[in-house]
Amino acid sequence: MMLCVPNDAQCVDIPGPVPRIGVLASGRGSNFDVLAEHAQQGSLGVHMVTLVCNVEGANVLHVAKKYNIPSVVIAHAQHPSREAFDEAVVAHLLKHQVEWVVMAGWMRIVTPVFLEAFPDRALNIHPSLLPSFKGMSAIEQAFTSKVKLAGCTVHLVRAAIDDGPIVAQACVPVLDGDDLYTLTARIQSAEHHMFPRAIARAIAAHRISRSSK
Ligand code: GRF
Repeated sequence: MMLCVPNDAQCVDIPGPVPRIGVLASGRGSNFDVLAEHAQQGSLGVHMVTLVCNVEGANVLHVAKKYNIPSVVIAHAQHPSREAFDEAVVAHLLKHQVEWVVMAGWMRIVTPVFLEAFPDRALNIHPSLLPSFKGMSAIEQAFTSKVKLAGCTVHLVRAAIDDGPIVAQACVPVLDGDDLYTLTARIQSAEHHMFPRAIARAIAAHRISRSSK
């Protein structure tokens, strides 16, 4: 795996309170599991204060229990519009004084309601080397395109799907004999390595730039 996380900030000894982050996730929660472990060990440089899940019964809720991270289900189906759903999510995050939002497998399109509440303070992970293969089934798109390099990207969230300034990328080879399952496993393992490092760097860089003003 080749990892590119700009080495532009130190995560230690930054003045000011430790940022509070909220995580949004919809499914299995393997990325959330890695992030929660790093947060618990203190290597993310943040307080992980809440998990929001939009799917009742999703595995990520069990992962949150394992780490004693408070979680809530806000079901999108119970809201009349995307905006109304985002209003409920934003209200929950603000109630918990969340400063940064991390999307770890959040299968929802965000609206301006969300973006205006967290301008440049929301990070997403996507399982492709953006700007290639946006949207759903990104790994399948890469596999069927027969690319030789695949990977994953962490980026700041913008209105367009899987768009926004790139914070970090990791690439992995597509090997002869790979199937979708083996390629998915390789990309997700790269995600688990990259995501905590990208978050720590992005938040530390933001704090340093603020403290030097
Ligand atoms: C990851 O592959 C991520 O890139 C995508 O959704 C998947 C979530 O997996 N946005 P998990 O729930 O973290 O296991």
